[in-house]
Amino acid sequence: MCGIVGYVGKQNASAIILEGLKRLEYRGYDSAGVAVLDKGEIGLAKKTGRVDNLVKEAARHKFKGTTGIGHTRWATHGGVTDANAHPHVSSDGRFALIHNGVIENYDSIKKFLLSKGYTFASETDTEALVNLIAYHYQKETPQPDKSRFLESVRRSLMHVEGTYGIAVLCTDCPSELVSARKASPLVLGVGDGEFIIASDVSALISRTQNVVYLKDGELVHITPKGFTIITQTEEDVSPIVNQVTWKAEDADMGTFAHFMEKEIFEQPAALENTMRGRFSADGSTAQFGGLNITPVEFRQIDRFAFCGCGTAWHACLVTEHLIERFARVPVEVDYASEFRYRNSPLDRNTLFFVVSQSGETIDTLGAMREAKRKGYKVLAINNSVGSSIAREADGGIYQHVGPEIGVASTKAFTSQLMVGAMMALYIARMRDMSYSDGIIYVNALKSAPDLVRRVLQQAPRIKEIAQRYAKVSDMLFLGRLSLFPVALEGALKLKEISYIHAEGYPAAEMKHGPIALISPECPTVFFAPNSEIFNKLVSSIQEIKARHGKVIVITTEGAQLPDGLADDIIYIPECHEAVLPIVATIPVQLLSYYIAVARGCDVDKPRNLAKSVTVE
Ligand code: F6R
Repeated sequence: MCGIVGYVGKQNASAIILEGLKRLEYRGYDSAGVAVLDKGEIGLAKKTGRVDNLVKEAARHKFKGTTGIGHTRWATHGGVTDANAHPHVSSDGRFALIHNGVIENYDSIKKFLLSKGYTFASETDTEALVNLIAYHYQKETPQPDKSRFLESVRRSLMHVEGTYGIAVLCTDCPSELVSARKASPLVLGVGDGEFIIASDVSALISRTQNVVYLKDGELVHITPKGFTIITQTEEDVSPIVNQVTWKAEDADMGTFAHFMEKEIFEQPAALENTMRGRFSADGSTAQFGGLNITPVEFRQIDRFAFCGCGTAWHACLVTEHLIERFARVPVEVDYASEFRYRNSPLDRNTLFFVVSQSGETIDTLGAMREAKRKGYKVLAINNSVGSSIAREADGGIYQHVGPEIGVASTKAFTSQLMVGAMMALYIARMRDMSYSDGIIYVNALKSAPDLVRRVLQQAPRIKEIAQRYAKVSDMLFLGRLSLFPVALEGALKLKEISYIHAEGYPAAEMKHGPIALISPECPTVFFAPNSEIFNKLVSSIQEIKARHGKVIVITTEGAQLPDGLADDIIYIPECHEAVLPIVATIPVQLLSYYIAVARGCDVDKPRNLAKSVTVE
């Protein structure tokens, strides 16, 4: 949902900003723009489309300044045009501003400013804010001990309803930048004689690993000498400088064709990182460092509630299955976007979990705040250290899978499934699961990376299968029990990157409606692992075949499928129930990826999507 970068230092700002924007492009790719201060003037380049278009445009300008801002847009207010691209410049030409978020009361601000003679060149909400800053600057009496620039931004934000991560330049302050946030993420990189403000760490990691995560309601004023942080109510904030553990290479594609492909193949290592140090010394249960809740308190929980969006919601559904199955404790799962407005009743002894890769999804953040408001403890399963969700949660579990850049979530999903499986074990071992069953469970989890490697080795075959199905326009994904959410995830992966209409259903529900879709043109991906309901799964596949539907069956090695039942079979290794959803996910990720590639789709940047959804 828009990426922003700002630079103050001694180097060419434009080059550093463009590099940062490339890393942030996953946040939005409708248009991009850069503004650089040079000799008291704002140099501006904006272009619809990808950052590469902007790079060409910026090259014509030969920007020289060492202070600047840049933006990659996911359109909210106003169409995808050069005029609506950020940065926006105030009508007096004094300020340039980039914005991630939504100014909800922009219309009334705009009407007020029009009455004061300000003019507007775009259809965006953002332009109202940059002109409001110009208006306040004009009104502000200069004071020797106060930055008029900072003060006019602070005053303007007091009139803003909505969400924002902004960075602002002022022609009167040629090497300064003011930045502020409310609900949209911002991180400040503190480098060697330079400062970079960005929507996330990936944009600045190649220049520094020292970062300050800004909190909601904070403003930072950056000058060549240093930076100061204040709150909206003018209190000074002592910054905490954190060290980012990952490196610039982690955010590079390496030899892979797409980030999604790289991230699919990173999953064995990602799962190892998620598990590292999280099993008890006797190897019979899981342990977590950051729950901030004692085992005794944990033991008293009667119910768990899980919330997330999209893929993270699917991870919640698998976790529900595993906790109920192994720990026998009831679990409720809600879409975060629904929970926050549904006012759902929760039992007193409920522990609330939110699941989010980015830790910035506004709906998940909203659900979390709502649960906290109701007095519940909230734990977060999250991949982004320092994210809003991580900071506001009472405790939680980091996934430790490194940056996920492909817009379609892959390694973060299987890692969330791993955390869910470990959580089920942790709770189960506090209740009825025996020591020896705990040992079996732990060993099963430890085997997951190898099992995933074995499925990944089948990539060439899955690619062949994918090519045969690349031209379809509809596909069904069916599974039961813990593989029903995996079917949902398979359908989501396919639709978001290949634009094929796909639906996931519990396999036995097929005959209650979706069976009407079955035809030779609408193939089905069917999860049919060896299990006590294997025969029922086979019967459902027969029903599809009887209606001339094509079926790709994902089953376990050694399963006895009747001859001719499947049009294509993908085998996954036999495994423990807790690991099955992880292992079964890999073929559908690969299938979706290869189908999208065969269709010539832009896999890492699917249309209309953005990685981190920071607007409602
Ligand atoms: C799908 C996908 C999205 C995200 C969802 C939540 O591939 O990536 O559905 O899972 O937007 O994002 P996070 O986990 O960052 O809260």
